Amino acid sequence: MSITIETRTTEELGKGGRAELRTMLEGCFGERYGDTAWQHCLGGIHYLLRYRGELAAHGSLVPRWFKQGNVALRGMYGESMATVPHLRHRGLGSIVVAMATAEIRLHHEIGVFAASKYEFYERQGWQKWRGPTFVRTDEETLPAAPARGAVMFRLPVDSSVNPDADLTTDWRDGDIW
Ligand SMILES: CC(C)(COP(=O)(O)OP(=O)(O)OC[C@H]1O[C@@H](n2cnc3c(N)ncnc32)[C@H](O)[C@@H]1OP(=O)(O)O)[C@@H](O)C(=O)NCCC(=O)NCCS
Repeated sequence: MSITIETRTTEELGKGGRAELRTMLEGCFGERYGDTAWQHCLGGIHYLLRYRGELAAHGSLVPRWFKQGNVALRGMYGESMATVPHLRHRGLGSIVVAMATAEIRLHHEIGVFAASKYEFYERQGWQKWRGPTFVRTDEETLPAAPARGAVMFRLPVDSSVNPDADLTTDWRDGDIW
């Protein structure tokens, strides 16, 4: 079979798998892919798509704290979505997004990530968050907009989350969203 997809936790990747993934992501994102971006994509589930054995596309979902009003939400945050340059525009990235989307719709209260290629995700039902976004530090909650692009979300079918209202996440180094 020319296309295979593996779902692995970061731990299951092992040292060799992590090294292979980081090299692939650095090739996809270039110089903007540093230690912080790498750390952000660890600690959850990795979707690894291989084309003829080559690691061709990746996306990860990491557990993250979200809150709307006083309601905490069990959510996943999408990170390091990428396809190797020579295999783009063939639908491989969309397969990874479809898998991550299904995981969120089946098992979580919200899926979130920051993106600038809106149409790529909108085709699979993701939308831009319309309400104000915030970050919670140890001391306070502050307004926080994404550094570039928009905060995008995906909800399960019977969700009561309101995308026109507030959304808060926890502090982290680097880009908050
Ligand atoms: C964004 C990214 C992951 C897309 O990966 P991809 O494998 O090219 O994704 P797909 O092939 O599924 O879809 C890409 C486009 O090709 C088109 N496409 C899909 N299959 C196609 C085919 N068989 N023939 C021609 N076009 C096709 C899609 O319509 C889509 O169009 P869009 O960009 O207008 O939405 C890739 O461009 C990338 O790695 N970019 C650099 C890293 C990055 O910026 N990641 C974060 C994005 S927010």
